[in-house]
Amino acid sequence: MATLEVKDLHVSVQDEEKKQEKEILKGVNLKMSTGEIHAIMGPNGTGKSTLSQTIMGQPSYHVTQGDILLNGESILDMPVDERARKGLFLAMQYPAEIQGVTNAEFLRAAINARRPEDDQISVMDFLKKLDKNLKLLDMSESMTERYLNEGFSGGEKKRNEILQLLMIEPSFALLDEIDSGLDIDALKVVAKGVNSMRGDNFGSLIITHYQRLLNYIVPDTVHVMMDGRIVKTGGPELAKKLEDEGYAGLRDELGLNIKLVDDED
Ligand SMILES: Nc1ncnc2c1ncn2[C@@H]1O[C@H](COP(=O)(O)OP(=O)(O)O)[C@@H](O)[C@H]1O
Ligand SMILES: [Mg+2]
Repeated sequence: MATLEVKDLHVSVQDEEKKQEKEILKGVNLKMSTGEIHAIMGPNGTGKSTLSQTIMGQPSYHVTQGDILLNGESILDMPVDERARKGLFLAMQYPAEIQGVTNAEFLRAAINARRPEDDQISVMDFLKKLDKNLKLLDMSESMTERYLNEGFSGGEKKRNEILQLLMIEPSFALLDEIDSGLDIDALKVVAKGVNSMRGDNFGSLIITHYQRLLNYIVPDTVHVMMDGRIVKTGGPELAKKLEDEGYAGLRDELGLNIKLVDDED
């Protein structure tokens, strides 16, 4: 069993306009183990992507206080690729394009980076695994010979990220708004992929603004984030409640003095 723990995490970014650091995360606590799926919901601009980027080690996010532990070990000093080798995976709201590397080459390198030098995946095993997962995601083989994300449609990028997830088999997947811009059929395929990973060796932190995705990937635990903090934690019913009452309803119920981006002036 692997564990991921975020302890009293404070994170700031450089505010280019004001030429000063701006605190985005103001003390986030979160603990999860493989075998569990946690969802983080919250209004726009509240720090959800900041949390996932910081866990993955994106250098523009500065940790000013607190820690992130993977299996009890602090990962704060590790660069992104080392965190990936240790079993973290981030699927992003806006996936990057990489020129000159085909999808298949990328996948094989990523799988092998997670394995010892003397136990690299064979071409046969790789192709078998690729074929199985392409079928599961209803993806065409031609997708794997294209350069990574180059000219992929929004839906293709999302599907491709789930293909990466299935191929790389991380311990923890951070899935940031993987539902954004997907039609219902694509959403179902994405959910099918994630659900196929469920099990003792896999945990996921699913970040979403809307409850819709959580009808298809039912989380064990739901956290609500507002203004850089987790303000409430519950079961799947918490997501349903938010769908009905909105973030403003929860804010008022908790007596929080927070302005939401969606508030009217
Ligand atoms: N790289 C960055 N540079 C400057 N500001 C940022 C950066 N990333 C996030 N922010 C700011 O941090 C706040 C939280 O953003 P984000 O984490 O993307 O929220 P969410 O994902 O919940 O919508 C926003 O006010 C956003 O403008
Ligand atoms: Mg975001």
